[in-house]
Amino acid sequence: MATTEWKPYSLPRDHTESNRLNLQHKVYIANAGFLLHPRIAAALPEQARVADVGTGTGAWLNDLAAESPSSWSYTGFDISDAQFPQTNTGPCRFTTLNILDDVPDEYREHFDVVHLRLLVCGLSGADWATTARNASQLLKPGGWIQWHECAFLHLQVLQNAPAAPPSACRQLVALLLAGQAREGKMVEDVLRLAQTVRQAGGFQDCEDYVFSSDRVAETRGATNEIHHPAVGALARYAVQASPGLDGWTREKVEELMQRGSRELEGGKAYYRWDMHIVTARKPVV
Ligand SMILES: C[S@@+](CC[C@H](N)C(=O)[O-])C[C@H]1O[C@@H](n2cnc3c(N)ncnc32)[C@H](O)[C@@H]1O
Repeated sequence: MATTEWKPYSLPRDHTESNRLNLQHKVYIANAGFLLHPRIAAALPEQARVADVGTGTGAWLNDLAAESPSSWSYTGFDISDAQFPQTNTGPCRFTTLNILDDVPDEYREHFDVVHLRLLVCGLSGADWATTARNASQLLKPGGWIQWHECAFLHLQVLQNAPAAPPSACRQLVALLLAGQAREGKMVEDVLRLAQTVRQAGGFQDCEDYVFSSDRVAETRGATNEIHHPAVGALARYAVQASPGLDGWTREKVEELMQRGSRELEGGKAYYRWDMHIVTARKPVV
């Protein structure tokens, strides 16, 4: 069985990051408006098997299990177990799996739904097509994929009132995107996600639900709280992974992070980007 080398992952996997991911999950769901796309929820059998790939802390899977029939089963997969729930008393099972490797026999055509969210920090180039193909392998014929990604390539820092522009935040965004681009990440892949799911994954009946990260404007403050630390983490990663990148230093990043926090204070400025939730069905034959 072919196994892929581990790719560099650009975010930390510590306790603080786990708390951030859990809060981020709430904000993403408020803006998406659902955990499971209504057309998938309506089509699932009584004994549905749900997989969450790149599950992280398992926030999405645990919330889905809490509101879904007890006859369903839930498996969370991640390349690392570092952020799996520490006390796992619920119905979800968590296990390690690299979605870029060949799918183990025990999981082939096993699931009715495969959910993926925010793999954008881990995938580059052909990884996107491999992930779509392997997600299809995990699914039974007629099963559904739901893949939620953020178009960070076009991450913006917008203003709420005419004042000095949020230049510190904007510089950090430019740095993080330059760092990610050096690894072929956060380029145009999310914009092509629906096409990748259709072509590489062989899925049918594909829909791309495109909405704003601040579709619910009241979430802008919480988005700043969860997103500014992630911008900082990715900017630090850029400095560490690409020393000398355009003269950037760790000290300059820390200074801009502090200035950036002041720019965001009271919602004077806020981060915004497009979200894509691609849903599609594996052909029955
Ligand atoms: C930003 S976190 C998102 C976690 C979760 N999906 C969420 O939305 O809260 C990305 C997760 O994808 C996982 N990941 C990255 N590359 C992966 C791979 N090749 N196979 C499986 N998981 C992967 C990371 O370990 C991390 O837990």
